[in-house]
Amino acid sequence: MTDAKKTATLTVNNETHELPMFSPTAGPDVIDIRKLYAHAGVFTYDPGFTSTASCDSTITFIDGDKGELLHRGYPIDQLAEKSHYLEVCYLLLYGELPSATELEDFEQRVTRHTMVHEQMMNFFRGFRRDAPPMAIITGVVGAMSAFYHDSTDITDPWQREVASIRLIAKMPTIVAMAYKYTVGQPFVYPRNDLDYASNFLRMCFSVPCEEYEVNPILARAMDRIFTLHADHEQNASTSTVRLASSSGANPFACIAAGVACLWGPSHGGANQACLEMLREIATVDRIPEFIARAKDKNDPFRLMGFGHRVYKNTDPRAVVLKKSADEVLELLGVENNELLQVAKELERVALSDPYFIEKKLFPNVDFYSGIILEAMGFPTSMFTPIFALSRTVGWISQWKEMIADPQNKIGRPRQLYLGETARDYTDIETR
Ligand code: SDX
Repeated sequence: MTDAKKTATLTVNNETHELPMFSPTAGPDVIDIRKLYAHAGVFTYDPGFTSTASCDSTITFIDGDKGELLHRGYPIDQLAEKSHYLEVCYLLLYGELPSATELEDFEQRVTRHTMVHEQMMNFFRGFRRDAPPMAIITGVVGAMSAFYHDSTDITDPWQREVASIRLIAKMPTIVAMAYKYTVGQPFVYPRNDLDYASNFLRMCFSVPCEEYEVNPILARAMDRIFTLHADHEQNASTSTVRLASSSGANPFACIAAGVACLWGPSHGGANQACLEMLREIATVDRIPEFIARAKDKNDPFRLMGFGHRVYKNTDPRAVVLKKSADEVLELLGVENNELLQVAKELERVALSDPYFIEKKLFPNVDFYSGIILEAMGFPTSMFTPIFALSRTVGWISQWKEMIADPQNKIGRPRQLYLGETARDYTDIETR
């Protein structure tokens, strides 16, 4: 934490209070209100936390006005172009880009943890085959604390490290198993001679009846999707992981809480909802109808994949994904994909419409990702599980940072109470 160099003056009920202010390395100053209630007897009020910094962090920075996303200072477009997911995992976890030796050691450690406990197969078999993969993953990740109980003591740095590697390593296996289970195909074991993205594709799409050759174009696109979803400062699911972790709960339970939060259609569930919306629109000539619905205050419909709490210019991840969608679909020979044409026209129409311009609504990370994932052969039900797989390193990195922070204390917000004041119980005969 930096030293306060400025103060904010707040007058409450004719009393003046000086509140310390802290300046970040990037982004807005913050007003430290930790002693506000003790000194002024009032709470601040910020449902949805639109103006609240919940912690300090050195991992990811977003400038919503510039459309900038930095991981440990490195711009996301450079990482997506020049790096790869496990190297970005190392950067997020340890703060610096690895040397060749450090990277090789890290990749080996992850590779050696990709298998799951054989008993987990039985856990999977308790689900119905038509269970949504996200429901299975939420349950299985939470159950990891029953299978890997030897890495749940968060006071032990070594156990924290083992739990971190286990989660990053096993999420692809668990997500692939959830997919295989719902399509009625046998589970596929990870292979130690494949890279992270290739291993995941093979665990999803190979069958015992024939050899499976990973398409390098798809492996590169998969790895890039993992990188683009890796972390995103204090979004809803990351804040869920931090709040769950603040009670001292074990990392597997906390990451399962993050998975559950990500599932919502306003958050990670938007990639699935967006593709379903594009499919409902179906043809370019129906776009005006949906634009009108999105603008209609009486219609709960929103353009899925559009808008963002922080980005008010453009989501840099969407820019990379739009380019990647063009490349992947062309390389796959489906460049005239109708959904991609609808998506591009929808973006063009929306971005020229005063409503979207005024409200600063732009395509976000979920707008193009689904088009690529579908072209790769994934059903829409696998889109959010892939987002959860990718975001696990972000959740874990933020969790590690919080656990190691000496200021770490249990999160316990207050409220603006508008209910009944104290009143006496009445017997049922008199009601
Ligand atoms: C992710 O936080 C993160 O970083 C998340 C994420 C990550 O990497 O972790 O980036 C991933 O969750 C991306 C967002 C995916 N969600 C969607 O695509 C769902 C559709 N988008 C919206 O629901 C909405 O834009 C949110 C939830 C993303 C942001 O909501 P906010 O910041 O709370 O904004 P708001 O709901 O207050 O909307 C502001 C105005 C409203 O109009 P008014 O009440 O001011 O008249 O904009 C309108 C909204 O009605 N609006 C939309 C819209 N999004 C906002 N209108 C039509 N379509 C939309 N998509």
